[in-house]
Amino acid sequence: MSSVNTKSQFEVKPHSDHPRLLNIEMNKEALKQFFEETKDIGVERIEYVPFMRFYLAEQLREVLGEEFQNKVQEIMHDRNTGGFTIGVQKQTAEIDNYIKFSTALSHLIGVPNFDGMSGKYYARFDVKHTFDSDTYLRQAYRRFNLHTDGTFVNEKTDWVLMMKFQEENAEGGESILLHIDDWDDLDKFRNHPLANLKYEFSQKGRASKNIDQEVYDTTFFESNNKTCIRFNDQCSVPKTIEQARYHKQISDSLEATSKAVAIELPIGDMVIVNNNFWLHGRGSFEKNPKLYRELLRQRGYFAEV
Ligand SMILES: [Fe+2]
Repeated sequence: MSSVNTKSQFEVKPHSDHPRLLNIEMNKEALKQFFEETKDIGVERIEYVPFMRFYLAEQLREVLGEEFQNKVQEIMHDRNTGGFTIGVQKQTAEIDNYIKFSTALSHLIGVPNFDGMSGKYYARFDVKHTFDSDTYLRQAYRRFNLHTDGTFVNEKTDWVLMMKFQEENAEGGESILLHIDDWDDLDKFRNHPLANLKYEFSQKGRASKNIDQEVYDTTFFESNNKTCIRFNDQCSVPKTIEQARYHKQISDSLEATSKAVAIELPIGDMVIVNNNFWLHGRGSFEKNPKLYRELLRQRGYFAEV
């Protein structure tokens, strides 16, 4: 423990694919130490016992220093960035360690929400050549349109984390990200008469979501005096032609903007973005019968203490 805590254990750099994103590289020895010190904690234990998730966060903070937690929180709240990538840097190839590492990270930032799809605080899901899903999430050959998460649940969804677990024969399918301050049409839609209308957002009838409630909310809202967005074309339930047209135009504009950026996410890496002002989606994959990708996701809120 003493050997790695003397100087800064991490470095924050601009991300190579996106001008607003940052990439955090950690001291490999410190990271190795985190995996070593948490090796006896099983995934079942962190699923059953919530305080163990914070224990993982504490262990990561222990090896990387308190300034690491301050930094990741600062990035997440900074309107100019609000997102970063980080990974296991080849210090482990074990899925259980991926889960533990992502759990430590999320609990340095906030608290994950219950994920209705998995019945846990995180969800793992795969994308394959064939699918049996009732949403675009797992349909490989369709573009997954830009959206924010959590529109149809009555919980704050301040951040989204996605980590790549496995990937084989995958061409395309990049994560696509758009910071709304880069969106050319933000003002146009923000100032539209329907911007303050409370829309119904719901996933009723979709078995995979296990959520049978509807939420009424505006498309845009303010946080820290800045415009934020909640938008998901699959969850928007308009009641009139005008309301439908408004959301369709937003969706068309989002899909057409040249400001959305595809980013590479190597296996063992994750991207975490502020869900209030970042939209995310996925490009379509090239057809391949052997296509396989598995991701983990967590989304949650910023704890106010
Ligand atoms: Fe999403």
